[in-house]
Amino acid sequence: MNGFSTRAIHAGQAFDPTTGAVIPPVYQTSTFVQKSVGDLREGYEYTRGTNPTRDALQELIADLDGGNHGFSFASGLAAEDAILRALLQPGDHVLMGNDVYGGTHRLVNQILAAWGVELSTVEMSDVEAVRSAIKSNTKMLWVETPSNPLMKISDIEAVAAVGHESNLTVVVDNTFATPALQTPLALGADIVVYSATKYLGGHSDVLGGLVVTSSEEIAQRLASSSSLLARFRLRGRSS
Ligand SMILES: Cc1ncc(COP(=O)(O)O)c(C=O)c1O
Repeated sequence: MNGFSTRAIHAGQAFDPTTGAVIPPVYQTSTFVQKSVGDLREGYEYTRGTNPTRDALQELIADLDGGNHGFSFASGLAAEDAILRALLQPGDHVLMGNDVYGGTHRLVNQILAAWGVELSTVEMSDVEAVRSAIKSNTKMLWVETPSNPLMKISDIEAVAAVGHESNLTVVVDNTFATPALQTPLALGADIVVYSATKYLGGHSDVLGGLVVTSSEEIAQRLASSSSLLARFRLRGRSS
């Protein structure tokens, strides 16, 4: 396998088949022409579902994180919202670290609470405290490491193992470390989420959110809920 630096500039970056452009163009189109109704030309229909530029980005982040499926969103919080709403139901409980990004806490505590999702927080660096805080309705463990703002560090491998003992979905917000420094899927996480607005963007000129998973079931649920009515073609990584 190529090294990280090579993959960071080449993964998902096939040349454009129409013109031979070596850098994937930005396809600024909402809709794609069909041969006849429902008979797609190159598999693309409507950009909320799929778009070649997003496909390139999604393949890139999936490669860098060692996952099978990547998803891109308009912001980190949009990515988080998609995960939470795709996988939780009213009555479910989420256990988060006690120093996650404020917007993440508010998203569950203020917005999803109205739909019956319950939240509590725990010192995520204390594995036994995590074990004790899991309740009968806990469905998701949300780990942000390093955390924002206090830069608390959690042991992803240890807390993922504890979460899986109770069949929880383990989500790691890897915004601060990026796959250059930490690959949570290899440590047992089920989902990695990013605010690409930060170090992945790198220049304070873009908002974005990314999600990576190797679970087919999670990928299907995320795809169908986040693309809403558009037909979503779930593309695994080609390599
Ligand atoms: C760790 C972390 N996760 C998620 C977010 C939310 O991302 P966005 O601002 O792209 O919606 C932020 C934003 O500061 C963050 O620091």
